[in-house]
Amino acid sequence: MNKDRKLIIAGNWKMNKTVAEGLDLVRALKLELANIKEIDIVVCPPFTALGEVSRAILDSNIRLGAQNMSEHHVGAFTGEIAAVMLKEFSVRYVILGHSERRQHQKESDELIAKKTLATHGASLKPIVCVGEMLADRESGRTEKVLETQVRGSLAGLTKEQMVETIIAYEPVWAIGTGKTATTAQAQEAHAFIRGLLATLFDDTVARRVRIQYGGSVKHSNARELMSQPDVDGALVGGASLESRSFADIIKNSI
Ligand code: PGA
Repeated sequence: MNKDRKLIIAGNWKMNKTVAEGLDLVRALKLELANIKEIDIVVCPPFTALGEVSRAILDSNIRLGAQNMSEHHVGAFTGEIAAVMLKEFSVRYVILGHSERRQHQKESDELIAKKTLATHGASLKPIVCVGEMLADRESGRTEKVLETQVRGSLAGLTKEQMVETIIAYEPVWAIGTGKTATTAQAQEAHAFIRGLLATLFDDTVARRVRIQYGGSVKHSNARELMSQPDVDGALVGGASLESRSFADIIKNSI
C-alpha cells in the first residue's frame, strides 16, 4: 500500500502476559515478522515484562512501547512509572489516554496533555488515544467529542512535537466487542481528526501525523482498514495476544 506515512501497528497487551508468556509471544513474532520492513511494529507489554521483552527483541525489527506513564519526572508518586524508567528498557512509544484509563482511572484530557508533553520531554513517542462512546455516536456527537479530546489531549504541543505524536482513533464501542467501525466510519473520523490538526497546527503537520485505528482489528479486516487514505496503522488489543493473529494483521496490511 503506497502512502507517504509509514504504517505503524502496535499490540496493546493490556493487563495480560506474565514475563514467560510475553517472551514466548515475542520470540514467535520475531520469527514470523523478521522480513517486514514496510511497517513499524510495536509491542506494548505490561511494565513487569518490559525488561525481559526488551532484551528479547534487541536484535529485531520489533520496537517496545509502554501502556502508560507518569506526567512527573521522579519523586513521591506511589505506583507510578516515570519516563526515565521506561528509557532504561529502550522503550520508544507510550500509549496515553487509552479509553480504559479514561474510564477506570478517570484520566482527563488535561492530564493526558501533561503526560504527552512529558513523553516528548524524554524523547519518547506518545500514542494518544481518542474515541467516542456509543451514546456519543448515536446522538451525533462523534465529531464534537473527538474535537474536545484532540484539542485537550494535545494542548501545548509544538509543531515539531505534534509530528512525532501518533494518534489512535479508537471508538469505545468497538474495543474488545468484536464490532469494528466500518471502513467508511474509520476513514471519516480519521479525516476529521487530520482536518482538525490542519486547523490547530498546519497542513504540513496534518499530512505527516500518523493516525492509527483501534477497536477489534483482526487479520480479516486489517487490509481494508489500512487501505483507507487516512488510516496509518492499527492499535490492536485482543488479536495482539497471539503471535499468529498479530503477525497476520501485519502481513495483511502490507
Ligand atoms: P481490541 O482493543 O483490539 O481488543 O478491540 C483495542 C485497544 O483497546 O487498543
